[in-house]
Amino acid sequence: MSMQNRLTHRFGITYPIVLAPMDYVSDARLACAVTQAGGLGLLGGGYGDEQWLARQFAALTADPVGCGFITWSMSRQRHLLDQVISYRPAAIFLSFGDPAPFARTIRDAGIPLICQVHDIAQARRAIEVGADVIAAQGGEAGGHGGGRRSTFTLVPEIADLLETVAPQVMLLAAGGITDGRGLAAALALGADGVLVGTRFWASREAAISRAAQEHALDANGDDTIRQRVYDLVREKDWPTGYTGRVLNNDFVRRWHGQETRLAEHLPQAQAQFDTALDAEDYEVANTIVGEGIGRITSIDSVASIIADMVALRACR
Ligand SMILES: Cc1cc2nc3c(=O)[nH]c(=O)nc-3n(C[C@H](O)[C@H](O)[C@H](O)COP(=O)(O)O)c2cc1C
Repeated sequence: MSMQNRLTHRFGITYPIVLAPMDYVSDARLACAVTQAGGLGLLGGGYGDEQWLARQFAALTADPVGCGFITWSMSRQRHLLDQVISYRPAAIFLSFGDPAPFARTIRDAGIPLICQVHDIAQARRAIEVGADVIAAQGGEAGGHGGGRRSTFTLVPEIADLLETVAPQVMLLAAGGITDGRGLAAALALGADGVLVGTRFWASREAAISRAAQEHALDANGDDTIRQRVYDLVREKDWPTGYTGRVLNNDFVRRWHGQETRLAEHLPQAQAQFDTALDAEDYEVANTIVGEGIGRITSIDSVASIIADMVALRACR
């Protein structure tokens, strides 16, 4: 089925499907697999790691591929933006923080700017700074976000806003899109394409342990929760207003709502967390997935995930 539209034309891709920049999970292998299957791969710049970025760009075997940043973290290491611009990525994706200080540099370099937003105010800001594409992320999404809005209402509201004030800006729907039904719904809601994280996390090419994936396959959507305890334990200094969706587990049940106590017991909790990471004990270590995990029942290749999606089929 042809899914060519202005998004596919702009990026020279076959399908309007974009890989979410999931920090180390979206490495060169996963990004290239998505691009080779007809989508747009984005490397996860995450919190920012110069060596990792250099290795991933050197390892690219497909084109086009872009790169994402956690904006507030990159703002403390601005040289990383110049580093990534020097690799001439197909797009730079900014999420979680004001894009204004970086937008001009990215646009002046002639690189398309994608801004991920979680509400209308942020969408207006993205338009103001000249974003080429807005990714509207609902609270169903895996990983961090604003968590106040859902994909189903946020996407059409931003689609209408864009139509009125910035019709040249394209729109991606993000959060809970795992299969062909999600893709069809996103397009019907007015998006030009989809940004997919959790479904590609559960792919053969994802840079994540097979044990974590197998653990997550048992979960349904009720088993995820938005929380801050893993930010505290990893000492990630997230600005107010952001929480991260993960699988609920013993560790979250113990500390969620008890963040002040967690801060008082941080060294012990960190030791427990580090041990659990090594042991792949996901009742303590974090498993970052969205509500969409409840629709995913097998770990498949990126090519088959995209083929099913564009055939508008449900998850296997
Ligand atoms: C494992 C994981 C890691 C993520 N890491 C990042 C990140 O580093 N930067 C970012 O902008 N978004 C990150 N996200 C959020 C995605 O950009 C996207 O909004 C989300 O995956 C879409 O929802 P879905 O997971 O339901 O597909 C992450 C998501 C997941 C599942």
